[in-house]
Amino acid sequence: VLVWALAAIFGYLLGSVPFGIVITRALGLGDLRTIGSGNIGATNVLRTGHKGAALATLLLDSGKGAIAVLIARYFGGEVAGIVAGTAAFVGHLFPVWLGFRGGKGVATFLGTLLALHLPLGLAACAAWALTAAVSRISSLSALAAAGLSPVIALMMARPGIALACLGMAVLIAVRHRTNIARLRAGTEPRIGRKG
Ligand code: G3P
Repeated sequence: VLVWALAAIFGYLLGSVPFGIVITRALGLGDLRTIGSGNIGATNVLRTGHKGAALATLLLDSGKGAIAVLIARYFGGEVAGIVAGTAAFVGHLFPVWLGFRGGKGVATFLGTLLALHLPLGLAACAAWALTAAVSRISSLSALAAAGLSPVIALMMARPGIALACLGMAVLIAVRHRTNIARLRAGTEPRIGRKG
């Protein structure tokens, strides 16, 4: 249990680094909180018009989930990896550095899944990419990927990972409630558009 607690603390601290804020501040791109949706993720960084900053945010926010899993699993085994990845995701949503007002967790979720179970992670990324190719809407793609992931994990006979996916998918849905309202109203912006 001690190793799981350590994995949770380590994952949370790593996950709570808000790379979107760090990168946009470093590049002088303005305050993300006042741009687009106000979210701290790559989708909103893209609304600054800086594609490189958005890509870096995507890679670093997903990378922190993957690194949390890989390091915790190396030292503590399979369950420690699941705990650390889920904690990194929670850290992104509720970061201590931003008064617990964090992001929507999609990149960190995908990075965590890629490290936990590569075929499952690739399937979730494919669900995101296919939905995005058709709809050009980031939030809809996130909801599709998150919603499918527990089902795919169960089909792959990984109940522990499926449980973690279910918890993360519920949090992703809750975090996207303003996006869901815009989707229903038909006013959700396409990728790269401000509104
Ligand atoms: O990854 C977050 C995405 O699904 C929605 O972001 O900025 O459009 O609310 P945003």
